[in-house]
Amino acid sequence: MSPILAPSILGGPFSNMEKIIKDFDQSDAKYIHLDVMDGDFVPNLTFGPKFISDIRRYTEKTFDVHLMINRVDKFLQDYIDAGSDIITFHIEVDEDIESNLNFIKSKNLKSGLAVKPNTDWKKIIPFINLIDQALVMTVEPGFGGQSFMNEQLIKVQEMKKFTEEKKIAIDIGVDGGVDNMTGPLCIHAGANILVAGSYLFKQENLLNSTNELNKNFHNV
Ligand code: DX5
Ligand code: ZN
Repeated sequence: MSPILAPSILGGPFSNMEKIIKDFDQSDAKYIHLDVMDGDFVPNLTFGPKFISDIRRYTEKTFDVHLMINRVDKFLQDYIDAGSDIITFHIEVDEDIESNLNFIKSKNLKSGLAVKPNTDWKKIIPFINLIDQALVMTVEPGFGGQSFMNEQLIKVQEMKKFTEEKKIAIDIGVDGGVDNMTGPLCIHAGANILVAGSYLFKQENLLNSTNELNKNFHNV
């Protein structure tokens, strides 16, 4: 599976969102990663469905929506209506995971489950046939710009081995601290979706840095 770069808007100034989305839209990256935080599941707040539907007008790229919220069930329909293409929520939420996944499927969207650093990835196994992607958090969710947690790579390796042995075709993503050095390690470990935020915004030109990182990943 060739790697897919999912640039995250979280690393950039929200005041400049039109330009950011248009840069990602013109880039070779296939997805745009959108981090929704509720100040409860994680100690930070970002945006909700209105924001997603407002930026939808600037691009037709795949919106890879990462819900770091409690009460996923209450808000799923709103995130679907806003124009999400993939909805990933956390295995740690105290909810009926299967019913949420079935709801997303019933609306013909792709679904994913994310795993925090301290969570056993095997908790997703009972739901693995219902998901399109598993997202391994390589930082503690809540903030961009944190350092990549190397020890999380073992989860990616184990997941890759498990899914290959069982012939389960899902994408394996990594999210947090991904850059030109850590991204290739993730790809070697078995990841094919690479979320990257602050690394892209640290460079001079966002469109160039996105295309360069995408090329770097394709050359691994
Ligand atoms: C963190 C978010 C990430 C974030 C990654 O909770 O889920 O998607 O944007 O940002 P960087 O690449 O800066 O770690
Ligand atoms: Zn994310």
